[in-house]
Amino acid sequence: MTTTDQTGSTRIQTGGTGQRHARTEPPNARPTWAEIDLDAIADNVAALKTQAAAPQLMAVVKANGYGHGAVPAARAAVAGGADWLAVALAEEGRQLRDAGIDTPILVMTEPPPEAVNELLTAALTPTVFSRPYAAALEAAARERGGEPVAVHLKLDTGMRRVGVPQADWEDALTFVRDAQGLRLEAIWSHFAVADEPFNPFITHQAEEFARALGLARSLRVAYDLAHLCNSAGTLHLHEHHYDMVRPGLAIYGLEPAPGLAGKTALRPALSWWTRLSLVKRLAAGEAVSYGLRWTAPRETTVGTIPAGYADGVTRALSNRGEAVVRAHRVPIVGTVCMDQFMVDGGDLPLAAGDDVALIGREGTAEVTADDWAAWLDTINYEVVCGVGQRVPRVYVGDVRW
Ligand SMILES: Cc1ncc(COP(=O)(O)O)c(C=O)c1O
Repeated sequence: MTTTDQTGSTRIQTGGTGQRHARTEPPNARPTWAEIDLDAIADNVAALKTQAAAPQLMAVVKANGYGHGAVPAARAAVAGGADWLAVALAEEGRQLRDAGIDTPILVMTEPPPEAVNELLTAALTPTVFSRPYAAALEAAARERGGEPVAVHLKLDTGMRRVGVPQADWEDALTFVRDAQGLRLEAIWSHFAVADEPFNPFITHQAEEFARALGLARSLRVAYDLAHLCNSAGTLHLHEHHYDMVRPGLAIYGLEPAPGLAGKTALRPALSWWTRLSLVKRLAAGEAVSYGLRWTAPRETTVGTIPAGYADGVTRALSNRGEAVVRAHRVPIVGTVCMDQFMVDGGDLPLAAGDDVALIGREGTAEVTADDWAAWLDTINYEVVCGVGQRVPRVYVGDVRW
């Protein structure tokens, strides 16, 4: 349908079937959805595990599986060969257990000591780095009776976020060794700059970690596993893989830094789709959206997109980002609103109902999470974690979840 607005200069077109590029259909009335390829996650895990020097892989599925959906991402990771899963919070581990996932799950931070029983009831593996928490765990373990609780002792080798500070390593190792309710299953740490291949701090932390393991040996502290490497380390620090690697970002098919994946074929699992809700022809000089911050420099076709900052299309993309429609990258024009924003299609034959890739590919045109990160001066991690809760996830692939 083509109509005319009050000024007479704007021709508006609604309806139409539009061009299709997404593999899936939107599940809700509003056609804005994220398509998650679970086969991509499974294949990425398999590829990472094949190239790793470590026999085991722990897939990090915290933060709702980096925005991909915790339970489906976890199932896909396990289908791809993940031996362990990792989450940040006890609640995240509970969610996986409630879904019937029985793979070992490491909780990478310490919840408050009051949450210890919940963690043990869900058979989650605690990380330990503070004495009060270790003592609470040991007390809970004794009260429950049965087998000692397996714990992963986290040592701070230089990131200075969480972990036992170097000065306390000996105390912590002997405490866990002697605590009857605890069994030391792993010693682990985390790199601060693994995504900067030439940063000497990598070597510093690796040496500190090796020193910690030597200290454990000299104190006769028994443990089964050592693990140190996130995605960046998994991809390029093979000499530090120890018994297990611990990638997050890479299992979703994204690189922690450009080129870091090298020959490891990673496939992004997430694409983000919507459909033009309205298309209009603007005359030169007509402005769009709140604040009228973009004015058409010439006669042009503008499309309205039914997604906004409440969905994670952050307002900082106003007059900055791009989207893909009709296999072309087109600029976001004007202010991104809470539920909608506009793109300038120039003279493309846009039609209401056309599929639009916010993150994804149509033909040879693509917008990636890395593009968003560059526009927003952030990292691709934050981009995928930022796909809003209001955006339904639609899963494709053979993995059963
Ligand atoms: C302790 C720890 N290990 C592993 C990871 C996974 O890191 P990446 O997503 O860079 O692979 C994270 C993520 O933040 C983490 O905090």
